[in-house]
Amino acid sequence: MSTHSIAVIAGDGIGKEVVPAAIECLERIASIHGLDLAFTFFDWGSDYYGRHGRMMPVDGIEQLAKHDAIFLGAVGSPEVPDTESLWGLLIPIRREFQQYINLRPVKTLDGVSSPLEAKNPIDILIVRENNEGEYSEVGGRMYRGLPHETAVQETIFTRLGVSRAAHFAAGLAASRQGRLTSATKSNGIIHTMPFWDEVVAETVRQYPGVSVTHELVDALAAHLVLKPWTLDVIVASNLLGDILSDLGSSVTGSIGLAPSANLNPEGDFPSLFEPVHGSAPDIAGKGLANPVGQIWSGAMMLEHLGHPRSRRAPAGRVRIGPSCRSRHPRRRRNLLHVRIHRSRPDLHQRPHPGHSMTTA
Ligand code: NAD
Ligand code: IPM
Ligand code: MN
Repeated sequence: MSTHSIAVIAGDGIGKEVVPAAIECLERIASIHGLDLAFTFFDWGSDYYGRHGRMMPVDGIEQLAKHDAIFLGAVGSPEVPDTESLWGLLIPIRREFQQYINLRPVKTLDGVSSPLEAKNPIDILIVRENNEGEYSEVGGRMYRGLPHETAVQETIFTRLGVSRAAHFAAGLAASRQGRLTSATKSNGIIHTMPFWDEVVAETVRQYPGVSVTHELVDALAAHLVLKPWTLDVIVASNLLGDILSDLGSSVTGSIGLAPSANLNPEGDFPSLFEPVHGSAPDIAGKGLANPVGQIWSGAMMLEHLGHPRSRRAPAGRVRIGPSCRSRHPRRRRNLLHVRIHRSRPDLHQRPHPGHSMTTA
C-alpha cells in the first residue's frame, strides 16, 4: 500500500466548506485504490491570526516540509488585511518550497454549459510562473499621508525563472498539440516583457515539435473568450497568468470549477494543490460553494503523487473531477510529471537571492 502524508489547510471562508467535501472524495478513492492517505489538519489562517497575530506558527514552513503534499482551501478574510494573510501564508509556501509552476487546466466538463456557448470543447493548460515577475518583494510605500505619497513594486524576471517556466510549458505542449502561446505585453510599454519573450523563444527552440506564438495579453484575453478551443498551452507571468486563469475558468462555466497545482517539479519540496478561487466571503457559510475546483485539485494531487489511474474510479462507483488527460492516446502521459532534468543544475538554483523590501 502506498502511504502519503498530506498537510491540509482549509484556511478561510469557503475553504472550510470545500476542503471537507474534497477530503471525503479522496478518502473514498483511497479505499477503492488501496492508497494510504495520512492527513494532518492545520487550523492556520485568519482565525488563527486573530488568536496568535500571525497566519501560521513561526516554524510553519518546517512543519509543512515533512509532508509529501499540501492541500489548501483558500486564504483571505475581511477581518485581516490581504497583505497580512497572503504574505503570511500562501506566498511564503509557494516561495520557500520553490513551487515555481502554477498549473491551471481550463477544460469544458460534461454537463456544464459555458456562458459562451462554446462551439468546440475547450482544453487549455495555463502554466503560470509562480515565484517572481510582478509579485516581487522589491518595493514598498513611501511618504505615507503626504501629497507625494508613492507606491513602487518592481517587476523582476530572471533568466532562471522565465526559462524554467518556459521549459515546463514547452514540455507539456510537446506532449499535446505542440502549440504554445506566450502571454506578453511587449509592445514598447512594459520594459521587462521583451526579455520574457526572448527567454521564452530561446527555450522553446530546444523543443523541435513545439511552436510558440507571442500574443499580447489584452488580445489574448479576447481570444480566450472568442475562440478558446484554438488554444493549447499558455505560458504567462505571475500576474498575467493569475488573471487569465480566472477568465479561463469562467469561460468553461464557473470559477468554482477550476483547480490548480503549485508545483516544485524537481520534487525537492512538497507541492501545493488548491482551487483557483479564493475564500469567497460573499457566499461563505451559506452552503453555496461549488466544491469541484477543490475536488479536482485533489485529483491533481493524486496524479502528482504517482497515482494517475486513481483519478478514474471503477465505473459505477465514485468519480472525482474530470480527467485533464488528452483525448489522444499517443499524447496520454502524466501531465504533472514533466520534470526538469537533474542534469540542468542552472534550473535548481534559488531565484533572486538578494531581494528585500527597500522602503518603509
Ligand atoms: P473569490 O474567488 O473568493 O470570489 C470571486 C467570486 O466568485 C465571488 O462572487 C464568489 O462568491 C465566487 N466564487 C468563488 N469560488 C466559488 C465557488 N467555489 N463556488 C461558487 N462561487 C464561487 O475572489 P475575491 O472575492 O476577489 O477574493 C476573496 C478573498 O480570497 C480575498 O481575500 C482574496 O485575496 C482571497 N483569494 C485567495 C486565493 C487563494 O487562497 N489562493 C485566491 C483568490 C483570492
Ligand atoms: C490565486 C490568488 C493569489 C494570487 C492571491 C490571493 C495572492 O489570486 O492563487 O490565484 O494572485 O496568486
Ligand atoms: Mn487568482
